[in-house]
Amino acid sequence: MFEGLSQRTNKNHLKNSIITFLAISSLCFLAYFVSSDNSFKTPVDFQYNLELEEFRSFISKYSKDYKTEEEFYHRLRIFRDNLSYIRVFNSQGQTWYMGINQFSDLTHEEFNLAHKNKIIVPELPISDTTEKLAHPNLKMKRKWDWRQEGCVTQVLNEGNCDAPWAYTAVDAIASQYCVSGHNLVQLSVQEVIDCSGSYGNNGCNGGTITNVYKFAMKNGLTTEEIYPNTGKQGVCKTAKEKETIATISKYANVTPNNATALESVILQTPVSVTVEAIGAGWQNYKGGVISSNCGTSLDWAVLAIGYNLDNSPPYYICKNSWGDDWGEAGYVRVSIVDGAGTCGIQMSPSYPIF
Ligand SMILES: *[C@@H]1O[C@H](CO)[C@@H](O)[C@H](O)[C@H]1NC(C)=O
Ligand SMILES: *[C@@H]1O[C@H](CO)[C@@H](O)[C@H](O)[C@H]1NC(C)=O
Repeated sequence: MFEGLSQRTNKNHLKNSIITFLAISSLCFLAYFVSSDNSFKTPVDFQYNLELEEFRSFISKYSKDYKTEEEFYHRLRIFRDNLSYIRVFNSQGQTWYMGINQFSDLTHEEFNLAHKNKIIVPELPISDTTEKLAHPNLKMKRKWDWRQEGCVTQVLNEGNCDAPWAYTAVDAIASQYCVSGHNLVQLSVQEVIDCSGSYGNNGCNGGTITNVYKFAMKNGLTTEEIYPNTGKQGVCKTAKEKETIATISKYANVTPNNATALESVILQTPVSVTVEAIGAGWQNYKGGVISSNCGTSLDWAVLAIGYNLDNSPPYYICKNSWGDDWGEAGYVRVSIVDGAGTCGIQMSPSYPIF
């Protein structure tokens, strides 16, 4: 029976098991009420069964493969703990809510260990917002979303090779390439992971956004099609690396700790932002505007592609790289407040220029 649990469930199987489950649980429920002796089936069992079923669909959805029965029950316990954490959080009427995602069978410690300290925050300041950008969006707007202009590439999933500094910088370059009048092209993150070592980056073990910009100024970037993602660091494929399509001329920092400054640059081009994301907040984020559960110890990076000042609370729209099943189709909204900003989002924003 145990082996069946860890196998990828097909649709029919799932349907059948849901029907069977519903039938059995209604029977249990009935039995609970008709039985004169309640010691066997209690509402606690009912709740447990529901969560077990939820855990099974989680396993099949995210292709989790637990090797032993111990592992299965260990993960189930964590999953159920997280479920109740999520339920309690969601009952508090926050500006955002949590839900099940690929991280729901991990403890905080495991999630932190897997993701933390992979990004070295770039030195500040490099230059200011006076840099001339190709998109003359000079009049301030109440809201903006670069997806509607067709200048944001698809959401990627870092999987086991964490390199948020590479994803956000390459995404920023792809967007700026489009904003400054070219087609939207998915540029190669793998090239940066494999080939930018001499610029101070360290593949799946860490790097900086600034180092990617420096690499893209000197080498240019090729496309994802030419130099595809492998999910791990490899030897630099120099022939492919030379098929350059996008070379930036420089990069700049946005005035730190200033929401107005960041909004006005987002209006010109998507901006790489560093945030504190490796905690219970982002791990469980499902939707809404994040306004709590994070500090300013920058440990992650995303791409700010828009904002909305008419919402309460106002927010930035950010593209993450945990796949499109995480958050709002791969995106997260972060509330706009003065100073360092929510999760430190205004502390260290930067962008490339063609
Ligand atoms: C999920 O459950 C585990 C195990 O109890 C716990 O360590 C972790 O903090 C929980 N995560 C959240 C976000 O509550
Ligand atoms: C914030 O940035 C805006 C726009 O660039 C600027 O007008 C304003 O003076 C800045 N505020 C502070 C406190 O530096």
